[in-house]
Amino acid sequence: MQKALLRWAGSKKKLLPHLIKYYSNSFERYFEPFVGSGQLFFNLPLKNAILSDINGDLINMYNALKRDHVQVYQHLSHFSQTKEFYYTLRDGEQLDKDEFYLAAKFIFLNTYCFNGLYRTNLSGKFNVPYSASSGKLIHFEELERLVAYLHKGEFILGDFETIVSSQCSKNDFVYLDPPYAVRNKRIFSQYSPDTFGLNDLIRLKSLIKEIDNRGAKFVLSYAACEESMFLSQDWHCETVQTVRNISGFAKHRKTEQEVLITNIYQ
Ligand SMILES: C[S@@+](CC[C@H](N)C(=O)[O-])C[C@H]1O[C@@H](n2cnc3c(N)ncnc32)[C@H](O)[C@@H]1O
Repeated sequence: MQKALLRWAGSKKKLLPHLIKYYSNSFERYFEPFVGSGQLFFNLPLKNAILSDINGDLINMYNALKRDHVQVYQHLSHFSQTKEFYYTLRDGEQLDKDEFYLAAKFIFLNTYCFNGLYRTNLSGKFNVPYSASSGKLIHFEELERLVAYLHKGEFILGDFETIVSSQCSKNDFVYLDPPYAVRNKRIFSQYSPDTFGLNDLIRLKSLIKEIDNRGAKFVLSYAACEESMFLSQDWHCETVQTVRNISGFAKHRKTEQEVLITNIYQ
């Protein structure tokens, strides 16, 4: 398995063997409109991918790496790998910083923050604490290898519905991995102030119908729950086991069911 560049809440590492089998080389393009760390993207033999997310810092990081990963790494290698520096970087001003510095900052915070979470306060400031048990900063050779994958895709900032409905056509493959919907958007969330709500689920349900109408294929992964039953009406469904960390703590793991909803009948 190819490791992704980032740690990401809700990453589908454990589901990869189930997801990979839905993809084949006969598809024209690969779409991933909730790309996050792009676990599946990094594990498929792709030529032409359109990857998007609503998180602007994330999309900036991918694009800056594609433009000049050496500059990003130069910034990264000047950052001191300490808890004190983490907070200085996290909370410092960034008004005059270029895209390469901001990409390095994103990778650094993702490496040392608690559990790879991306969470902001209501004014959009990243506020995840440092974690002593987090990962190690990426080496240049590893970064260079992963950047080669990034060149297979176009990274776009935007809402899932806008990107897919404006670009997807016959013979494309769309993998959808939305956040789990919360009933109230303003509760503490793992993502950002733009957390997924019930209205987004309704938009998602219409979008999969639209993908099917255009002659494209989709796979949508979601926790087995009331909302997945709402999404899966009319479609083929595979239920698989996965392991989730409870409240983000790796030592508190629980086996749960995930549903793969698709218009591919195998
Ligand atoms: C479960 S994560 C995806 C994880 C990904 N499959 C991986 O391997 O890391 C969901 C992603 O959806 C993004 N997101 C939330 N609302 C969105 C929206 N309306 N449109 C596009 N992306 C959105 C979040 O920023 C987050 O990166």
